[in-house]
Amino acid sequence: MISNNKQCINNDWTYIVDNKTNKVNLPHCNKELSYNYFDEKEYQILSKYKKKIYIEDTSKRSFLKFDGVMGAFILTINGKDLEEQKGGYIPHILEITEYVKQGENDISVLVDSREREDIPPFGYVVDYLTFGGIYRDVWQYSLDRTYIKNIYFEYEVLDYLNDIGKVICKPIIEIDSLVDDKADIVYTLANKNQKTSLDIKKGISKYNLEPLVLENIALWNVDSPSLHKCNIELKTNLAKDEASLNLGFRKLEIEAEKLAINGKDIKIMGLNRHQSYPYVGYAMPKRAQEEDADILKNELSLNTVRCSHYPQSPYFLDRCDEIGLLVLEEIAGWQHIGDIAWQEQSLKELKAMIERDFNHPSIITWGVRINESCDNTQFYKRTNALARELDKTRLTSGVRYLEGSEFLEDIYTMNDFCHNGKEQILREPKQVTKLDKKVPYIVTEFCGHIYPTKKTDCEERQIEQALRHARVQSKARDNKEILGAIGWCSFDYNTHFDFGSGDRICYHGVMDMFRNPKFASFVYKSQKDEKKEYILEPLTFWSRGERQEAKMFPIYVFTNCDSIELILGGVSKGIFKREPKNLDDNIKYLKYPPIVITELDGEWGASFTDIEFIGYDKNLKEVARRKFLKNPTYDDILVRIYTDTLDSKYLDATRVCVFAIDKEGNTLPFVNDIIELEVDGDIEIIGKNKLCFLGGSIAFWIRTKASGNMQKAKVDIKSMAGYKKSIYFDLK
Ligand code: GAL
Repeated sequence: MISNNKQCINNDWTYIVDNKTNKVNLPHCNKELSYNYFDEKEYQILSKYKKKIYIEDTSKRSFLKFDGVMGAFILTINGKDLEEQKGGYIPHILEITEYVKQGENDISVLVDSREREDIPPFGYVVDYLTFGGIYRDVWQYSLDRTYIKNIYFEYEVLDYLNDIGKVICKPIIEIDSLVDDKADIVYTLANKNQKTSLDIKKGISKYNLEPLVLENIALWNVDSPSLHKCNIELKTNLAKDEASLNLGFRKLEIEAEKLAINGKDIKIMGLNRHQSYPYVGYAMPKRAQEEDADILKNELSLNTVRCSHYPQSPYFLDRCDEIGLLVLEEIAGWQHIGDIAWQEQSLKELKAMIERDFNHPSIITWGVRINESCDNTQFYKRTNALARELDKTRLTSGVRYLEGSEFLEDIYTMNDFCHNGKEQILREPKQVTKLDKKVPYIVTEFCGHIYPTKKTDCEERQIEQALRHARVQSKARDNKEILGAIGWCSFDYNTHFDFGSGDRICYHGVMDMFRNPKFASFVYKSQKDEKKEYILEPLTFWSRGERQEAKMFPIYVFTNCDSIELILGGVSKGIFKREPKNLDDNIKYLKYPPIVITELDGEWGASFTDIEFIGYDKNLKEVARRKFLKNPTYDDILVRIYTDTLDSKYLDATRVCVFAIDKEGNTLPFVNDIIELEVDGDIEIIGKNKLCFLGGSIAFWIRTKASGNMQKAKVDIKSMAGYKKSIYFDLK
């Protein structure tokens, strides 16, 4: 459903649970949870949402679209129950025309967030939580009796040079008509119009539109993610409809030993992402989804994200299009395949995923296997066939963990957890696939549970996590037969008691659940093109007694600088480059391997000094500098915000990070201070308003109350140690 004739109805729902009634706005999580050590049964409940909707014109067709409700629901409209909708990760569109009257209408939504065995991913254990509630947007559509249901932009890039090319578009439109037999469609793209007159049938059908040739058009690529607005208008004797889309055109080639976009080779360097956040689970609005994509692309410098293990927020995917982050998207599931009815549900979800996301240039493949499941020829023949029928432009994949598992897909996507800190880093594709030919091969997970690491863990453990990520990424870069590697995972996530550290968290992220960095994140961050930003991240807390045996070296400096100078106690110890003797063999194939300072004087017993790292470019010009004090003191709190303007009309949310720092601005990992938050204005803190630092940092999200009051809002941040900051937001 893509018509522009829609209205967001996220505001003013009545939420009923445990005989309590509350006013809430969407996205909403059925039970706000603690950060950890909660009982996951808390949110596996039935709950009810009620609202009045207004229907102006009963001669129009009325629909409601639920973008995400976990995991099943029954919509009741003016007392009439509609058929139950299953599947927590896909949109559900319900026509309500025949049940509504002019004026106010009552709707209520009974949401079943229990782990029902008839709905993927459930039926066995799952290493993540699915949370509950109406956790994405809800839309009301008022449409004529003929309307545009969807449009699929198939296209061919005929030639290309430097991401400029000639494109021939061959859109396929899906029309739902009750009455008409003729329709005129005009679509406007890059200042060109194309009009097609169609003979249409009653019911829902797809039609090919007149192709359109676009010359010299900016193509989409990871470094130049050009998007073009497309408007589509439908006119019949009786009906009018319009829709707008953002489109990106790219020539994607995925073959054995080759992944190229517009002729440029790309090596995948990515991380997996769960769409969950502290306290509210999946219930985060547009901005928070976008901020996650921005962290992955801009802060961690990734070119790829795997949406593990289900279709994620449309806003997250839109942002991936906008910023040039490649996406592997897949159907919901985790190791378990249920009975025939469960498989039918999975096929339904696969169809809904492709129909929803077909036009995203960022999506490079459809994952049509249940993550890490065993072979099931019959089921996977069907998922592959369905994906290929619905989308002739993309290849299929399906994440597996068993060597030699049946290859019905186009891309062999394998979780390779073989690296446990010892010699073996990745398996050879041939060994894994057991095929007699080379096939496109991507490593879709590594590290994760093999080496859980907390933001509060000691320096050595964090270094080892970083090195493991570095080794696997380096190995993948060096092996032509591997198209790239996607690590497990970007952010720590809440999980069931069967997994993780017993507190309902898997500490597998290169960032913590608050999206604050562990050392491993610097491996990725430092791979940023130095033309964009110089990065200088020495993996050290710089202290005499933190590591075993009071060692301070080696220091791995993850940087994209050409060389670094080291100053100890004011005295230069020389300039260090990536010379073969300084390179760790297992990490040397990164674009920017770390510069390793192996051994210097100043070990246990000698007088301890400050240390300074100066980063230089190729011309020995200073481009970055970091200083670590021999005797840091807790000096202040540093607050980082990502926007100062929020939407007052709908629930909007943004993250605020707080760091405990010394005079040099370095995070002090062992500060155990508490911060207290006080808000003024129409915003609230998600979670608690007292927080303790975790590994020297913490973050919180604020959300607007969707009151429509355009004013200023303020958060006062006060630490128990006496540091204070205030931040201000404009509600627009
Ligand atoms: C994989 C699984 C992921 C996560 C990971 C932890 O087997 O696909 O969902 O559980 O292990 O390392």
